[in-house]
Amino acid sequence: MSCGSSCRSAAAAMATLSLIAPPWCSSAEPTAPNYVAGATAFQANCAVCHGRDGAGTPSLAPPLSSYPARYAASPEGRRQLAITVLYGMFGEVVVDQKHYNFKMPDFTRLDDSALAAVLNFIIFDLAHASESTQPLTSEEIAAERRQPMDGAAVRERRVSVLAALGL
Ligand code: HEC
Repeated sequence: MSCGSSCRSAAAAMATLSLIAPPWCSSAEPTAPNYVAGATAFQANCAVCHGRDGAGTPSLAPPLSSYPARYAASPEGRRQLAITVLYGMFGEVVVDQKHYNFKMPDFTRLDDSALAAVLNFIIFDLAHASESTQPLTSEEIAAERRQPMDGAAVRERRVSVLAALGL
């Protein structure tokens, strides 16, 4: 495929997000994120630990490329996603039999729509949830913002969410 104007403007948008520009003008098709604002917020606030593509950092920060899609399919899992970004998480976690232990910071300073967007970027663009999955809404974030908890409690709650989802 030749690198036409839409291809070049998409490439410029990718550069603005300071993503590593892949050589897709000459080979693979571009995969622009569905949640562009969420992608920008993710690269600015989350990628330092979780990686630009959500693959995680060995032993420290877990990957976000699979479990969040499962969480998004149940009310308790959706609540878990919201409280994780609002209040952070502290203590060891296991994802796909691998152990991670570090401190996830809290992001109460980001507003409800920014947090919903960053989570939707994770759920749909990184973890590829099915199309039947409903995007998270600002209202779901706002509901959890009214009920503060600490990062250790967020981690304890995660254990029961995983059990309920069979993870
Ligand atoms: C300083 C590093 C760091 C940053 C920055 C960070 N995280 Fe995390 N995140 C972690 C760690 C560490 C965990 C696991 C917590 C633990 O060890 O108890 C985690 C866990 C998570 C989880 C839960 C995964 C699961 O399987 O339950 C989600 C979702 C998440 N982070 C999203 C985000 C988002 C969104 C951002 C940016 C707004 C972000 N993180 C920024 C370190 C980080």
